[in-house]
Amino acid sequence: MTGLLEGKRLLITGVITDASIAFHAAKVAQEQGATVVLTGFGRMSLVERIAKRLPTPPPVLELDVQNQEHLDTLADRVREHVDGLDGVLHAIGFAPPSCLGAPFLDAPREDVSVGLEVSAYSFKSLTGALLPLLGRGASVVGMDFDARVAWPAYNWMGVAKAALESVNRYLARDVGPRGIRVNLVSAGPLKTMAAKSIPGFTELESGWDGRAPLGWDAEDATPVAKTICAVLSDWLPATTGSMIMVDGGVHATGQ
Ligand SMILES: NC(=O)c1ccc[n+]([C@@H]2O[C@H](COP(=O)([O-])OP(=O)(O)OC[C@H]3O[C@@H](n4cnc5c(N)ncnc54)[C@H](O)[C@@H]3O)[C@@H](O)[C@H]2O)c1
Repeated sequence: MTGLLEGKRLLITGVITDASIAFHAAKVAQEQGATVVLTGFGRMSLVERIAKRLPTPPPVLELDVQNQEHLDTLADRVREHVDGLDGVLHAIGFAPPSCLGAPFLDAPREDVSVGLEVSAYSFKSLTGALLPLLGRGASVVGMDFDARVAWPAYNWMGVAKAALESVNRYLARDVGPRGIRVNLVSAGPLKTMAAKSIPGFTELESGWDGRAPLGWDAEDATPVAKTICAVLSDWLPATTGSMIMVDGGVHATGQ
């Protein structure tokens, strides 16, 4: 049986631990036949160690989305490993502590600006940097947490996700004529490093299982990883500018 992603060349950002959504996406993608290149941020030796736990240890390139030189050289560095890309996963998010859990009204503009740059603007920066490698049929996926409502504690990261949702639509509009799709996968809460850094994450996560029509396991990133792989595949060929909800169905309930 051939895999869903047989022959696909993917760039996957955002692995920092083996709980990372990106780690699970890379694992499922390799199991489905993809060739994966990873990028890591900051703690490169840690990312390289985690990468070795994948079925096929992939190359790891350094990428800080706030570093213009990293972005400018990215396509050439990717080209040393694959001759083009069929898919990209942006699984990057960060905001300073003042933006999460702390009083919403107190976050200074410099901190908010970092959160917006790393978590929303970078979806554009990454896609733009990789355009020379992306051809017709390519799929770009970003990670969302439903930003249509105000959540406990999520605060300025929620604002950054609202911006990301808008960036997604504008990017889809502008790269659509090149045959490139751009979509977000909107996940329910998962216990990753980024999530644990949110004071109040437990409050956000604890009722989810009970509210979700399908139930929800915050320790299991595989349903989200499978959905990412489906969007990276050829099986959603006319879907772009969309948010695909993978939250057990919580978004559809009124509780
Ligand atoms: N965990 C959840 O509950 C959840 C739910 C919905 C969406 N998401 C989103 O999924 C994505 C992945 O997060 P995760 O939960 O797997 O956590 P994670 O901590 O494993 O991953 C976050 C990643 O962002 C990277 N990063 C931070 N600053 C960066 C920078 N300047 N340049 C490049 N990379 C940088 C980190 O190195 C890390 O790999 C994020 O966008 C997050 O907001 C997470």
